[in-house]
Amino acid sequence: MNDAANNEAALVRAPGARNGSPIVELRGVSKQFGALVVLEKVSLRLQRGQTAVIIGESGTGKSVLLKHMVGLLRPDAGEVYVDGERVDDLGARDWVRVRRRFGVLFQGGALFDSMTAVDNVAFPILEHRTLPKPEVREIAMAKLRMVGLEAFADRKPAQLSGGQRKRVALARAIALDPEVILYDEPTTGLDPVRSDVINELVLKLQRELQVTNVVVTHDMTSAYKIADRIIMLQQGAFIADGTPDEIRASGDDRVRQFVEGRASEEDLQSLQVERRR
Ligand SMILES: Nc1ncnc2c1ncn2[C@@H]1O[C@H](COP(=O)(O)OP(=O)(O)OP(=O)(O)O)[C@@H](O)[C@H]1O
Ligand SMILES: [Mg+2]
Repeated sequence: MNDAANNEAALVRAPGARNGSPIVELRGVSKQFGALVVLEKVSLRLQRGQTAVIIGESGTGKSVLLKHMVGLLRPDAGEVYVDGERVDDLGARDWVRVRRRFGVLFQGGALFDSMTAVDNVAFPILEHRTLPKPEVREIAMAKLRMVGLEAFADRKPAQLSGGQRKRVALARAIALDPEVILYDEPTTGLDPVRSDVINELVLKLQRELQVTNVVVTHDMTSAYKIADRIIMLQQGAFIADGTPDEIRASGDDRVRQFVEGRASEEDLQSLQVERRR
């Protein structure tokens, strides 16, 4: 092997050597749709192996933020880096390579209705890897085992509960052994017990697979439980960034109002109601 190939191999095999560098980084990213400014020069460095939780009001740009990390949206200005490589200007073919490092649990977490749970999980494996079918099924079953749904492998989505469907979608998101998992509101629509199952899974994936988790949620119980770091997005900018304890103790009214789930004075005025104490 020549030196260049040697170095290349060393880089691939020793991610730990670059542990200090962020796995995902946004530098001064701006995005608007027509006149609507959604992100205004936001910068963010996500550390490997951590769980970052993004909170913020509905419509504030949390999903838009996630989509920039996997090339589904491109910034109007600013740069996006994955493991030190600039990616916002990559072509479609290079994005396929970069996107393989991500598992994504989209808002809604759509499964293919006509396929069984195990076939849903096997789908990305068949797309991206050339392996014999029985081996693919074995990998898919292992992922279902990871989310505790091995016994439901042959059911179709319509025969599963909402929480089970989310877990199948999560098994599918980890099918290709991603380094980073993006979750867009993984607990929305679930009761507190089912939500906590998802919380435990997020923590388990971090612990057992050392993945980096990025979780968008409105659910503060979940945020406090899973986050190493909570970041709040409002009106195009990050207005808070800290540990769960720091966010709990925040003196910023906008943060307090959100985490305590209180309507704003403006909202109350527009409804012509007085705040009940
Ligand atoms: N492709 C698009 N074209 C035009 N406008 C868009 C597009 N994607 C998002 N938007 C707008 O950008 C804003 C932010 O959307 P986004 O989906 O990121 O909100 P969100 O914070 O994820 O909200 P929610 O909590 O309700 O999911 C919204 O006003 C939305 O209508
Ligand atoms: Mg969203």
